[in-house]
Amino acid sequence: MQDIISIVGTGFVGLTTAAVFANAGYRTYTIDTDENKINTIKSGKSPFYEPGIDGFVERAITIGNLIPTTSYSESIPNSNIVFICVGTPSNEDGSVDLKYVFESVSSIIENANSDLIIVQKSTVPVETARRLEKMIQEKNKKNIKIDVVSAPEFLREASAVFDTLFFDRLVVGARNNEAANKIIEIYKNVDSFSKVINYEKFIDYAFNNTSKKYLDNLPLFEKRILRTKVESAELLKVTANSFLAMKISFANSIARICDETGAISKEVMDGIGMDSRIGRSFLYPGLGYSGGCFPKDVSGMINTANEYNVDFGILEEVKKINSGQINIVVNKLKRLIGENLEGKKITVLGLSFKPGTSDIRKSQSIYLIKRLIKLGTIVNAFDPKATDEAKKEFNDKNLNYMNSIESACQSSDCVVIATEWNEFVNFDYNSIKETLNNKNILDCRNCLNKDKITESGFNYIGF
Ligand SMILES: NC(=O)c1ccc[n+]([C@@H]2O[C@H](COP(=O)([O-])OP(=O)(O)OC[C@H]3O[C@@H](n4cnc5c(N)ncnc54)[C@H](O)[C@@H]3O)[C@@H](O)[C@H]2O)c1
Repeated sequence: MQDIISIVGTGFVGLTTAAVFANAGYRTYTIDTDENKINTIKSGKSPFYEPGIDGFVERAITIGNLIPTTSYSESIPNSNIVFICVGTPSNEDGSVDLKYVFESVSSIIENANSDLIIVQKSTVPVETARRLEKMIQEKNKKNIKIDVVSAPEFLREASAVFDTLFFDRLVVGARNNEAANKIIEIYKNVDSFSKVINYEKFIDYAFNNTSKKYLDNLPLFEKRILRTKVESAELLKVTANSFLAMKISFANSIARICDETGAISKEVMDGIGMDSRIGRSFLYPGLGYSGGCFPKDVSGMINTANEYNVDFGILEEVKKINSGQINIVVNKLKRLIGENLEGKKITVLGLSFKPGTSDIRKSQSIYLIKRLIKLGTIVNAFDPKATDEAKKEFNDKNLNYMNSIESACQSSDCVVIATEWNEFVNFDYNSIKETLNNKNILDCRNCLNKDKITESGFNYIGF
């Protein structure tokens, strides 16, 4: 029998996975409780901005392989493999709210008519699968076999389609080898598909130097598969994000010392990054980490450590350093325009938590704007893709969402680069120099060429 897949949760992970599976030839249901999202996908579009995804969704809908629905009873009885991709946000106390995971698995059990593999892709605390298995045992009154597999997701927003096609690893934690084999087989087919598609047409963004080099060095499929215990798979995902967050906070602490001593953070990071044991990635000081994953996964890991009486103070520090970065930015701003920020006009370029996405979850840029407004400034903000999302989250009489870099910079006392979109990196700041109140640039992502900017007559501060 040809496998039929259901994907529960149609967000960044779920929709990308569903669209790729459907294009690779699988009949794929994509289920969400949000009717608006489902209707948008039915019309062949993605509800969020993600490079390359629209082409994949449109084609999958056109060939009829992608079936968006809000109905578990339409999808689950027809499927033999179900991927859970619902959100796992933080509770107030930092623990992970598993409400959506349990709700969705409960609906799956209710609607299942035949043997099923449930693949947990949402990021969850270790031992969640055990809890799900217990729930399945209690609720599954039909004589059907339901296996739980943990296959955590490692895609990165802004390159989600690319990462799903050319995954660097597939971790499969399973108690049942046959269930693990099934999941590996699906990804084998995705891998084969990735080799035959005209991806230049689909994902031109993939063809920058980094991705070319990455593809040239991508190991064979078999070398990218890691079979583990279920608990290891769950734990290693949160471990990966906590470790990357730690690198960012580490770099930010070093940058604080650089600020006091005259050392240049980029030179320090370049120097240690040349050590292959350390590596250069994620050693970028600046506004700090944000987004739908790192903040909640760090908190979740702290919570897990506490639950098992493991002292993991290092992660408490990672979190503290990160939230302290807003103060660092404010202090740098004061160095540029003076102690009293009241009434000053500040331009904030970038609202999304990183370039290439419309996602503003836990965005440091939004936290910064909130602080600046509290300090009495007037903020003119611009983002190439995330403005609509930001408008839903935060409005204030002293915050103006602008339509262009030029309009956002009009009469500004300082231009703050909060997200390193290419549009901001490549912009000719000379062209707006005369429209500014003060020629100040605060580069919170170290993404501009300091020498060029200062030669043009700007006061420039980076990290
Ligand atoms: N976004 C990323 O870059 C990324 C990367 C790796 C792992 N993850 C993990 O994957 C999971 C999903 O993340 P995301 O960013 O795609 O989330 P998201 O918020 O974009 O999407 C989650 C979707 O689940 C839907 N949902 C909630 N309850 C449901 C239910 N009972 N039935 C059907 N749909 C339901 C929501 O309406 C929403 O559309 C999280 O655990 C996250 O930590 C995310």
